[in-house]
Parts: sequence; structure tokens; C-alpha cells
Amino acid sequence: MPRLSSLARNLTTETAFSVLAVARSLKATGKEVVELEIGDSPFPSTPNAKEAGIRAIQENRTGYCPSLGLPELRRAAAGFVGEFGIEADADHVIVASGAKPFETYFAEALMEPDDGVLIFGPQFPTYVPNLNRVGARPVVVPLRAEDRFRPRAEHVAAFLREDHRPRAVILNSPHNPTGGVATGADLDAIADLVRGTELVVLSDEPYCHMVWEGTHESLLSRPGMMEHVVAAYTMSKSYSMSGWRIGFAVAHPDVIQAMGKLINTSSSCSPPFAQLGAVAALERDAETRDEYMGRFRRKVERLSDGLATIEGVSVDRPAGTFYVFPDVRQACNRLGLTSHGLAMYLLQGADDRFGVACLGGECFGPEGAGFLRFSCAEPDEQIDRALAFLPEAMTRVDRVRRYLDVHPEHALAVPYVP
Ligand SMILES: Cc1ncc(COP(=O)(O)O)c(C=O)c1O
Repeated sequence: MPRLSSLARNLTTETAFSVLAVARSLKATGKEVVELEIGDSPFPSTPNAKEAGIRAIQENRTGYCPSLGLPELRRAAAGFVGEFGIEADADHVIVASGAKPFETYFAEALMEPDDGVLIFGPQFPTYVPNLNRVGARPVVVPLRAEDRFRPRAEHVAAFLREDHRPRAVILNSPHNPTGGVATGADLDAIADLVRGTELVVLSDEPYCHMVWEGTHESLLSRPGMMEHVVAAYTMSKSYSMSGWRIGFAVAHPDVIQAMGKLINTSSSCSPPFAQLGAVAALERDAETRDEYMGRFRRKVERLSDGLATIEGVSVDRPAGTFYVFPDVRQACNRLGLTSHGLAMYLLQGADDRFGVACLGGECFGPEGAGFLRFSCAEPDEQIDRALAFLPEAMTRVDRVRRYLDVHPEHALAVPYVP
């Protein structure tokens, strides 16, 4: 076997895709599984996007196009972020294959080895591997349930004061996995700290339309922040277009040009017909989008309220996103399972014919331990079936014991401190 690079050998990946693979293989053997592990939409892509994408293929918009993105999408995206108070024109916008590539481009365009990057944990699992790519140094500080998982400006202040090379902050509001939402005041305070420093911020905002308390606020709308912020958006969540792989970022034109070179030298460009679908969605699918957001909100409430009734589980309705992030420390302590172990038990061990797929909070870093993350990617009836199954599954102590015999790696060595 060829010798792999240390980067390839050490790269950690998004666990949701591994749990998805287990869920799919169980389904292939005939087991019924409610899949609440992956952060995807159960709804079809919005109608104008579909129609425009199909038409674009028929009209042969199928060749290469500019690395920075089609001018019409860059313009539409600049208009779109106006909704969040961001003043941008097409020169401030770049298109890529979803929001995720901007984690790579942000690191490659702006980081040097040993640059410190403040991350609020638990965090989206691909932030750290993308920093590892360039040798930047993640500095993780915990979000707290008591703060409703909002980023605290004092952590940014302490990072600036104490780190030997403070260079960047990754913000993600609304937040995956916790559902926390930064308020306007939180972002004002962070902007005041960032202004006048060398700090750059990746503001990862894929859930910008899924704010259930208050309104979506972006750091980039604060004065002077165009010098500091790369704000990333995606068609994946708001328009149910995750497989189209189209997202965009808004930043200073010099940063946009640098990221354009990174795209030029890697993927070349994003598919033009997919970009034209995105233009149609941005311009003409707001009504369907808002209807979908209402449905997500009701799903989140259904799931969250149902989970809150289970013994050993404690959860508030999330302020945003389509995730619910319950505290299961008591249930884990009682069953002797880690939270990831509990998730895998619910999928594999609790029943022979039925399972629920979700993620242990530690899939998002050690700060997530003791929590589970559920998405709302299934129809309501399936969410209800999962909710009926979970309390019953958590009383089957014999099955937990048998599961732990086969999977001793999921045993909880030291009880969680609630
Ligand atoms: C916080 C966060 N960032 C980025 C992404 C990736 O989005 P995309 O599918 O548009 O690349 C996700 C998707 O789940 C996410 O939750």
C-alpha cells in the first residue's frame, strides 16, 4: 500500500456520514430505522430551482464557467445578504460547492502554521480538520447550556489577551449541533473586540433562515467587519438543495480573489446549471422556503417537546436550526453508556426490528459529551415513532448489558457530572 501523508492519516471526518452508513446497512438487512442523524431536509428542492436547473441543462449550460461563480448568482447572492443588513455587491461574493469548502478556503487564504483559531465547542466536525490542513491551531472554548449555547464575547477577549498568536475566530450562528443563536448584542460586543485587530472571522451561517427566537443577525453587518469577516451561506438548508452543492461566501474583494485562485487551482468552478438553479431559488422561491422553515420549526418543537418528557433527558426548545440537542447525562449515568454509546445502542442494540439513528454529542468534540443530537430529517409520523420508542428502549437494561458485552468501547468509565 502506498505510504499516506500524515495529513491523510490523521484527518478526522464528519461522524454523521459514518452513522448514516451503519443505518443504511441495517436498513438493507430489513431493520426499520428512523434516521435523525444527518442534517438534511426531508423536503424536495424548491420548485423554481428545479425548473431552472433542468432548463439550464437542456439549454446546454453545462460547460466550465468562472471560478468566482456566475455573475448572475454573485449579484443575486449580494442582494440576498441585504436581508441581514449586509451591504455587498457582486465583487464581495464567491460561489463554491456548498458552505463547507469555505472552511478550507478560509484556512488556506488567511492562516499560517501555529495561528490560533478560537472555536466554540461542541462544533461542526470539519472545522478542526480544515485548520489542520494548514497547521493552524484550534483553541476550543465551551458553549454552555446555561447561556443557551450563545458565544460569549469575553471568550474572544480572553483569546486575544492570552493566546500567543491569535488570528481567527469561527462563529456559527444558528449553531450546529446545539441550536444556539447569537443575539445582536453578542455580535456587537464581538465586533467591538475584532475591530482594529488582525483577527479574521469565519461566520458560518448555513441556518440563517432557521431562527425561532429573535431574528438572524450577522457579524458582517456590523461597521468595519468587511475587513475581517468571511460569511458563508448555502442553498443546502434554506432551499433543500444539499445535493446541488452550491453555497457562497461574502467577504472583502481581496479575500474573494484569493479564494478564487484556490478554486481555480482545485475544482475549477461549480456547475453552472446548479448555479442557475440557485439564482432561481434566491429570486423566486422565498415563499416555499418560508413554508419549509415553518414546517421545520414545528418539527423541532415536536421533537424537542417529546424528548423533554423522557426520564433522564433534559432539553429546551432550540433557538434556531433543525437540530435538538438534549442533555442525556442522567440517562447515560443510569445505563452506564457514553452518549455516543447511547446513540449507537438506540440504533443497533435496543431492538432487533426497529432503531433510531442520532449522534452522540462527542461527535462534535469533547464539549458535546453527555448530549445527543437529533435532526428533523424524517416525516412527522416517523419522529413520533422515534419518540415512542426512545423511553421504552432506555428501560431495556438487559439489552443495554448485552450491547455493552459486544461493544465494551461504549461503556461509561466515569459518570458524567450533571
Ligand atoms: C455548521 C455547518 N457548516 C457547514 C455545513 C455544510 O453545508 P453545505 O452542505 O452547504 O456544504 C453544515 C451542514 O450540515 C453545517 O451544519
